Amino acid sequence: MFEQMTEKEAKEQILSAVAEYCDRYHNIKKEFKPGDRISYASRVYDHEEMVNLVDSALEFWLTSGRYTDEFEKLLGEYLGVKFVSLVNSGSSANLCAFMALTSPLLGDRQIKRGDEVITVAAGFPTTVTPIIQYGAVPVFVDVTIGQYNVDVTLLEEAYSEGKTKAVMLAHTLGNPFDLKSVKEFCDKHNIWLVEDNCDALGSQYTIDGVKKFTGTIGDIGTSSFYPPHHMTMGEGGAVYTNNPLLNKAIRSMRDWGRDCVCPSGKDNLCGHRFDGQFGELPVGYDHKYVYSHFGYNLKATDMQAAIGCAQLKKFPSFVERRKENYKRLFEGLKKLENEGKLILPRPCENADPSWFGFLMTCNSEAGVSRNEVVKKLEQAGIQTRMLFSGNLIKHPCFDQMRESREGYRVIGDLKNTDRIMNDSFWIGVYPGMTVEMIDYMINQIIEAI
Ligand SMILES: Cc1ncc(COP(=O)(O)O)c(C=O)c1O
Repeated sequence: MFEQMTEKEAKEQILSAVAEYCDRYHNIKKEFKPGDRISYASRVYDHEEMVNLVDSALEFWLTSGRYTDEFEKLLGEYLGVKFVSLVNSGSSANLCAFMALTSPLLGDRQIKRGDEVITVAAGFPTTVTPIIQYGAVPVFVDVTIGQYNVDVTLLEEAYSEGKTKAVMLAHTLGNPFDLKSVKEFCDKHNIWLVEDNCDALGSQYTIDGVKKFTGTIGDIGTSSFYPPHHMTMGEGGAVYTNNPLLNKAIRSMRDWGRDCVCPSGKDNLCGHRFDGQFGELPVGYDHKYVYSHFGYNLKATDMQAAIGCAQLKKFPSFVERRKENYKRLFEGLKKLENEGKLILPRPCENADPSWFGFLMTCNSEAGVSRNEVVKKLEQAGIQTRMLFSGNLIKHPCFDQMRESREGYRVIGDLKNTDRIMNDSFWIGVYPGMTVEMIDYMINQIIEAI
């Protein structure tokens, strides 16, 4: 097949066949018919992603390499952030971000076991998991209904002098939390802010007159590239910061805990591989194998990064589609809110969300049962989702801690968190949704309610 061809020509032939294959067998547009399954999220891609993937496979570098470098650079440029580290999932990104804050490099701002981190229970578990696994104490505050983010009026009550070291929160389903108030609170007490941006890539918030991307306003931001998310590479995530010291800790935590910053496959870039002295090691011990942290290996493969590079090119258009879809759903369902049956999602002041989903709360006092509505929608082919854990504290993973009442604190009664667990659900707004699908969902929701 490749006789008389150079390697470059052979590769071009393969990649051109891949593009044709993708165009022919993937993304076949089917006209939507009422009753067809409408998933809450889906990958949106074309042959560019597949060509990049195969290109990377043919290169067979496999671990992080040139596509990883390119992706980190492109995402940094998009977000306007100095340092980006690609990791293998959003959960790994949260783990890496949190563990970076436990680095001894941070002096008296290092999070130690027993220190407290303010967060919420209405969300995804792996925003909280690293806090618990390390032995720090999550302090749960309630959220508001409609925005589904932290109730900032409770932050001072949650604060413990000398113990609270950080706030770690997600922007719920793309809706930015009140960053101004949370940032002011963190600055006032000199504590860290980690923005779990896994569901909010592309969301913006205007702070001090400047419009910035969420994830870049706190000390560290995290992303997920799991398929339902704003963009995908199958599995994948990213950790970003503008702080060089935090970046050093993030890289070390991601890359086995090592002190050396040479990328995979490179040695001695600084020229001092064999002349330093670290810990109680002998002078000149190979710096490549010096460990300044108890780290992990959270790196992604270059094949994942290759897909991500193609996705990033399309990304701004994804965000626009998500906003349009949100708007159409909101307009179509406003009537139910005015009638007191349903509460619709709203951004806070200064926020410009890149919505992940459309989260609604049924008014059970008006006789609207979330479970009944969800059942009807699923029967009509509309895929629904809960707000992840609803109230994380009620889950089996919390059984032992709930029983012993140790290892976490709760501020107040988490009334709204429980209401979300009982009365809320969401549907998708992903860029591949058509106007017909959205109008069908609106009509089905109105009918179900
Ligand atoms: C807010 C939030 N954080 C973290 C994650 C974890 O991301 P991943 O599935 O890539 O581990 C998710 C997952 O969907 C999420 O919604």
